[in-house]
Amino acid sequence: MRFDLEAHFTFSSDISSIKKDMEKFISDANEDLIKKHYKEIANIEIFKIEKNSLFLNIVSYGNFRPHNALLQIKNSLGKELGKKYHIGIREIDIHDYKIEFGLEQKPLKDISIPFAKVKSKGKQVTIILQNVSEEFLRRNYIDRMIKVVKEKVENQYYEGKGEFWESIWESEEKKPIWAKDPTEEMVDLGWLKQGPTKGKWFYRPQIAAILRTMEEIAINEVLKPLGFQEIIESYVVPFDIWLKTGHLEGMPGEFYYVAEPTTRDVEKWQRFIDLTKITKEISFDELNKNLSTPHAGICYAQCPVIYWSFKGKTISEKSLPILVYDKTAVSARYESGGRHGIERVDEFHRIEPVYIGTREQLLNLREKLLERYKHVFNNIFDLEWRMAWVTPWYMQQAGKIGDDSIQQDTGTIDFEAYMPYRGSRKESEWLEFLNLSILGDKYIKAFNIKAQKSELWSGCSGIGLERWAIAFLAQKGLDPKKWPPGFKSYMKELPKGIEFL
Ligand code: SER
Ligand code: ZN
Repeated sequence: MRFDLEAHFTFSSDISSIKKDMEKFISDANEDLIKKHYKEIANIEIFKIEKNSLFLNIVSYGNFRPHNALLQIKNSLGKELGKKYHIGIREIDIHDYKIEFGLEQKPLKDISIPFAKVKSKGKQVTIILQNVSEEFLRRNYIDRMIKVVKEKVENQYYEGKGEFWESIWESEEKKPIWAKDPTEEMVDLGWLKQGPTKGKWFYRPQIAAILRTMEEIAINEVLKPLGFQEIIESYVVPFDIWLKTGHLEGMPGEFYYVAEPTTRDVEKWQRFIDLTKITKEISFDELNKNLSTPHAGICYAQCPVIYWSFKGKTISEKSLPILVYDKTAVSARYESGGRHGIERVDEFHRIEPVYIGTREQLLNLREKLLERYKHVFNNIFDLEWRMAWVTPWYMQQAGKIGDDSIQQDTGTIDFEAYMPYRGSRKESEWLEFLNLSILGDKYIKAFNIKAQKSELWSGCSGIGLERWAIAFLAQKGLDPKKWPPGFKSYMKELPKGIEFL
């Protein structure tokens, strides 16, 4: 990398009379810099001293960041001049900062990022910043900008490439009872009604009972036998949690945002109330006056808030592995064009188990979870399904696109069911109805979670009730008499529901 920074110090008074001292200070600082970072070539040079201004140029090759030298110079120069001449430093202006670095692959198209111009020539990129504040330098934005450029170019290469997918296991073929789209049939039967807003559903007694049965099976057959304990979390997730997990940069376009009122003072709301009474319409202009900008969103996945609950805690060895699950928080994702039936919705119900423990504990747990899940899908649902390694969800949800390697210890396994109504086994898209991940120490570090002795890892698994139900119904139909005996032992008959005239 090559850094080239031009900056300018403004002092509290004229420094032209102490030019010699100033030059000595800078040449000492330069020597010091070269000594400390002798492997990197760095150079500080004065190019002008004028009245109360000192113009500097710092150039370095390698990993040394000249802006760090600049901040150090500000500190020590400030002290020295203060002591000797009672001169202080008013401000530093960074006029021009050029950063050149090489990429592994050349950009396929122009890149742009906030705060800087980006130019590229072959694999060589230059970021040009102008009029940068000291605060900006201190906040480590520069390194993140370099990272963002690199990521953007990497993503250009992944775009269009299929998602990573590597089969692990497949059940035998099962003859489906039917090949209809269960959602459409259930709407016709009156079990289901499209919800009052996009991608939401109203579940009438029959399908509500099926969803609850899925929940019961997951808890009784998988979570309880493995020792998971229930917790209840909030489904309103403040942005600082998503900043830590990466969701905020990954899927800002998929959240449902939560706005709080700025006040509950009735007087402030009076005009809105009166307008509503008189017009029987909603005055959004008036409403906006009393709403705050969102600082939170509705649960996207349940695990972030679970990690937050352990933030900064030291966990006793006796409590390891931590095995908890939430089944209360409803999740919301703005699916837009992707919506379909009750399998791809904006609002869904799921159980999310989260596990925190040593690497060995979690690898062992994964085997047991796989065994229990297999038992459910083979013996209770009698499903045709398969498992595959996929791009870990935390990469997808952090806006990262590709991953080329199978990671045996960490990573995400998707469970997919054949959906007869979508077409042939080979050509149609199977439905992801469950995932299981081990994530290493990613969130442990992000939330600073510790154990007495052990190094901690974590993971989670997303049990989508709508997904379980639709995978089952797509293969087994809606007639309880035709359901497999394992499932019938949980649900013999449907609630009688409501008849409409
Ligand atoms: N957090 C994972 C997901 O969002 C598992 O629940 O899919
Ligand atoms: Zn999760």
